Amino acid sequence: MYHAISTDDFTRSTVERLIRIAEEFRVSPRHILRARLQGTLVATLFYEPSTRTRLSFEAAVARLGGNVVGAENARENSSAKKGERLADVFRVVGAYADAIVIRHHENDEIAAALPYSPVPVINAGAGSGEHPTQSLLDLYTLWREFGRIDGLKVCMVGDLKYGRTVHSLLRLLTRFSGIRVTLVSPAELALPPSLHRELVDAGLELDVADDLDEALASTDVVYQTRIQRERITSELTAEDEEDFAILPRHLPILAPTARILHPLPRVNEIHLEVDGDERAAYFRQVQNGLYIRMALMDEILGGVLR
Ligand code: CP
Repeated sequence: MYHAISTDDFTRSTVERLIRIAEEFRVSPRHILRARLQGTLVATLFYEPSTRTRLSFEAAVARLGGNVVGAENARENSSAKKGERLADVFRVVGAYADAIVIRHHENDEIAAALPYSPVPVINAGAGSGEHPTQSLLDLYTLWREFGRIDGLKVCMVGDLKYGRTVHSLLRLLTRFSGIRVTLVSPAELALPPSLHRELVDAGLELDVADDLDEALASTDVVYQTRIQRERITSELTAEDEEDFAILPRHLPILAPTARILHPLPRVNEIHLEVDGDERAAYFRQVQNGLYIRMALMDEILGGVLR
C-alpha cells in the first residue's frame, strides 16, 4: 500500500514519473481518463480550511472516473467534535473508501494514526509541518516553466517558519542537483533551525538574506508565501509585511526569464498588478496541481484496482 504522508515518500524518480504522467493526462481525451479510476471511492477529510487542495483532489478523482465523499470543516462537522481519535477515524473511513485525503491542524497526527488505516492515506497539509503534494505541483511547475529543476536559483520569501509548503518544497529540492536557495523572511518567521540544519546536511546550498531587492535580482524563481496570521503569535504589522511583498517596482529587478510562484491563497504579499506579468506563474501553478494530483491518485488507486 502506497501512502503519501511526507516528502520522504517521494524519490527523485517518483517525482519525475508523476510529472511524466501529469503531462500525459494534460493532453489525454476526457473519456479515456474517465475510465482509469472507475469504481473507486476517495474520502477527503479537511480539518483546516482549503480551496485548492481539496477541490483539486476531488476534481482529480472525478476526472479519472472515481467518486468522492468528504467532510469539510471536519473539526466542527465530524465526530472529531465529540472527541473521536484520528486513528479511529482512519479505521472507520477506511471501511468505506479506497483512499483517504486528509488535511489536519496538527503536524504529527496523520503520521501517528497511519498504522490504523486499512487504505492509502494522502497528506493534504499537516499543521505547519508538511504539505508534500503542494511540493509536487511546485516542482511540476518549475519543470514546465524552465524545462528542468536542476541548477535553479530559488528565493523563498515570507513565512518560512510556519509555511508548510516551504518546508516540503525545500526537502524535495534536496533530491535535485545544483539548487541554490536564498531565504528572505521577517526575523521571527525564519526557517526553523532544525530544518535548516537538516537541509544543509542533505546537501542543499542555503543562504539567508536581508535585502529582498538584492535577492530578487539574482534568482530564477521567487517562491512567495503568505504570512500565516492564524499561526503566529508575534505582533507583525502590515508595514512589516509589506517589506516582504512582491510589488510592481520589483518587476524590472527580476530577470526576464525569472518566474514568481506562490502556493496561494495570496493576501497582500503579491501586488495585484504583478499578476499580468508573464513571469507570474502562480495561476498556471494552480492548474498544474490538478494534473499532478490526477497522476498521484492514479498511481495510488491504480494499485487498489489491480
Ligand atoms: N496551496 C494550498 O494548500 O491552498 P489551499 O489552502 O486553498 O488548499
